[in-house]
Amino acid sequence: MKPASPFLELDDASRVDVVFDGMPLRLSDGANLAAALLAAGVSVFRETPVSGAPRAPFCMMGACFDCLVEIDGVVRQACMVDVSDGLIVRKPLSGEVLDETV
Ligand code: FES
Repeated sequence: MKPASPFLELDDASRVDVVFDGMPLRLSDGANLAAALLAAGVSVFRETPVSGAPRAPFCMMGACFDCLVEIDGVVRQACMVDVSDGLIVRKPLSGEVLDETV
């Protein structure tokens, strides 16, 4: 079941299947992944390695790294990725680092 979200969803017929932490979602194809996950009700993208504090997108422009997620096995900034069909997204394990080669 989809969690509640404070964001207004646009009526969009071009939705694709994405999985976040095992939860199937239908997100707008080509949308910004961080924005689409927030709109779908995802409020915690990762936990900090030291304290375990929950983090979520803050800057939405690639500067803060609070939106780090693992996408198809690679840790990336969700705000710098577009939604595409079949993405498998999960919270990175504590201590996983950004792969800057992607
Ligand atoms: S929200 Fe700041 S880097 Fe993605």
